[in-house]
Amino acid sequence: MSVVPETSESVTLRFPTGFLWGAATASFQVEGSTTVDSRVDSIWDEFCRRPGAVAGGDTGEPAADHYRRYADDVALMSSLGLSAYRFSVAWPRIADLSFYDRLVDTLLERGISPWATLYHWDLPQSLEEKGGWANRDTAFHFAEYAAAVVARLGDRVDGWLTLNEPWCSAFAGYASGRHAPGVQSGSAAIAAVHHLLLGHGLAMSEIKAQVPDTPAGITLNLFPVHPASGSEADVDAARRIDGLQNRIFLDPVLRGEYPADMVADLTPYGLQDVVRDGDLSIISAPIDLLGVNYYRAYLVEAGGEPDGPSEWVGAEDVRFLTSGQPKTEMDWEVQPEGLTELLVSLHERYPGLTMYITENGAAYPDTLTEDGAIRDADRIAFLDGHLRASLAAVERGVDLRGYFCWTLLDNLEWAAGYAKRFGLVHVDFQTQKRTPKDSAMWYAGVIERNGLPAIEG
Ligand code: FCB
Repeated sequence: MSVVPETSESVTLRFPTGFLWGAATASFQVEGSTTVDSRVDSIWDEFCRRPGAVAGGDTGEPAADHYRRYADDVALMSSLGLSAYRFSVAWPRIADLSFYDRLVDTLLERGISPWATLYHWDLPQSLEEKGGWANRDTAFHFAEYAAAVVARLGDRVDGWLTLNEPWCSAFAGYASGRHAPGVQSGSAAIAAVHHLLLGHGLAMSEIKAQVPDTPAGITLNLFPVHPASGSEADVDAARRIDGLQNRIFLDPVLRGEYPADMVADLTPYGLQDVVRDGDLSIISAPIDLLGVNYYRAYLVEAGGEPDGPSEWVGAEDVRFLTSGQPKTEMDWEVQPEGLTELLVSLHERYPGLTMYITENGAAYPDTLTEDGAIRDADRIAFLDGHLRASLAAVERGVDLRGYFCWTLLDNLEWAAGYAKRFGLVHVDFQTQKRTPKDSAMWYAGVIERNGLPAIEG
């Protein structure tokens, strides 16, 4: 296999004109400065204090010190040619949002489109003490917070995402407890699913009331799910995992109903008890776009035993298998073809859906060479494969408008701590020195030509 020299324009695989090229981050993962400017504790500050909860005892300090270094970071984005930056607003900073004013203005000065996520997992701890997302009131508090952020930034933000990956908030946060707030209760997780979705719907109406012309939607982490065999038990295992991971979020938002099989499976956990009249019409208010976070696919079989509290509520017996592909540092298999499959199936199942990939990327060891470079050919191959897979979906009629790489800077990978590096730019967490990896330079080239060099078979 040889890569055709990029000088040959005719062989570049081009993305649609106007395709948005971005990078994403999240407040708690990059900002640091967790005790300044009236910021209050979030569930992640609290979780990081719990012995053994986060690898290495890592915390939100110093993160990538983005709160103070944002101007240099925006200059870096500009040098890479990014057309958009997806950041999240920290709810615990609601008392003083001036940082986001400065960030947005600096992005605009550099011609970079600001895309804001309203909730990327940092719930104020004070709300967790009242039950967090298991408490219906949290959805209404979220809507008030959303209204305040949109009032402040709505004149300058080009894209809004309400929630990032409510699956993680609900199931990793309240069922297995491997994420903040570390609760282990199937019924709390199911209540959280519904209240997160309700919060999304309420926030959408606040956004639309204030900035009706700004595209807005929700970001979900979606996975193609395959059964290991054609046996009835394995096929049913795949149905249940697809239901819990994908359809339980997609169907309420895009069809105004919970999937009937999920309602049946989750009755013992109280799904029907938390849904009130009118909720589903709030949740299914039209979105302008779906944000798709894609990392890998799942291969499942029935008949396992959970080793500890499971995030698969009602499907604790399902076993996850590997399909033999190479893995990243997260132990996640590299499966670019799953992205084409996912995007095409979303397009077919929910006709007319506009999508953006709001996260995709990989952690690799990223050792510094003696001259201080990071030769991350593995990450380049990962991104290249996934961009080809995206393009294959576009060729099959998928309305895909943009791609945000996860992530701009190495950062706090939640419970895995600072050791897992996903950045296009290396961060030395002692000195905060930024070093663009080879993948950053490669990505800049993709952006510049709005495409990839074709590969000759
Ligand atoms: C996603 C999260 C993001 C990051 C990547 C690796 O689940 O949204 O914050 O941690 O995974």
